[in-house]
Amino acid sequence: MQAYRLLLLSGLHQLRKFTVDDHLVSIENLCFDYGGKPVLRGIDMHIPKGRVVAIMGGSGCGKTTLLRLIGGQLRPTSGQVKVAGEEVSALGLAELYALRRRMGMLFQFGALFTDLSVFDNVAFPLREHTDLPESMIRDLVLMKLQAVGLRGARDLMPSALSGGMARRVALARAVALDPALILYDEPFTGLDPISLGVIGHLIRRLNDALGATSIMVTHDVHESMQMVDYIYFISAGTIVAEGTPDEIRASRDPFVDQFVQAKADGPVPYHFPAPNIAADFGLTMDTGALA
Ligand SMILES: Nc1ncnc2c1ncn2[C@@H]1O[C@H](COP(=O)(O)OP(=O)(O)O)[C@@H](O)[C@H]1O
Ligand SMILES: [Mg+2]
Repeated sequence: MQAYRLLLLSGLHQLRKFTVDDHLVSIENLCFDYGGKPVLRGIDMHIPKGRVVAIMGGSGCGKTTLLRLIGGQLRPTSGQVKVAGEEVSALGLAELYALRRRMGMLFQFGALFTDLSVFDNVAFPLREHTDLPESMIRDLVLMKLQAVGLRGARDLMPSALSGGMARRVALARAVALDPALILYDEPFTGLDPISLGVIGHLIRRLNDALGATSIMVTHDVHESMQMVDYIYFISAGTIVAEGTPDEIRASRDPFVDQFVQAKADGPVPYHFPAPNIAADFGLTMDTGALA
């Protein structure tokens, strides 16, 4: 318990620095190209401390790229990303490393280390980033595992876990260092509906218990509406809609409608751009039935 209090105190000390800026994450006019190909175009986001925010959009619209820019793995082509008042792309390596220590990341397909037990997976970031004695690490790991309901599974190997359990261990590992900012890339992918609900609930609970801020990339609109404070919709590299879950439910925006109702066609077209259909099939009659 005392060990935990110590870590909590050092966490509070780190958090105090974040009062520099009301928004834990501020993104302004962010643009990013991959080798000249525009991926993000003029993104603006201001995320207050304590919030759980979802970023939604179809595959390839730039969601993972955005998380990597926030985490400092990529540098903006123009515009800026500030985390806790610090411009991420302006940080030197040591400062970036220090900032990353305050971030928890659960990346898409972010697998557990298969040759380490559940316990050692969660202990990994603590052993890597702190000099805490093994007895303290033990207490901290068991507390994180308790928080995700898997204290009893500490000695299992990842191959013995169900998909939902493995995701919960990954969650415990992502929050092992009591991060101030947690980034999740598609945390619900491949889960059955019950595990999906459990993970959604845990993301919210861990955020609130740690006093953290969470950004979650997902296309699970229904799960997100139940647990997040705010939602951004991205299409073709720009924010096309945003709001609280209530605002999104009430929205008449055609993009939101297409996404929430899972309609095949809408502002995001079903058809890839193609030549005129009559010309392609050598037809002169009415082609309505083929559209
Ligand atoms: N390393 C890379 N090099 C070039 N293009 C990339 C790279 N990574 C992603 N892209 C492209 O950038 C776009 C956005 O990718 P990504 O951010 O992964 O999308 P999302 O996570 O929304 O599915 C896609 O068109 C993708 O093909
Ligand atoms: Mg992605």
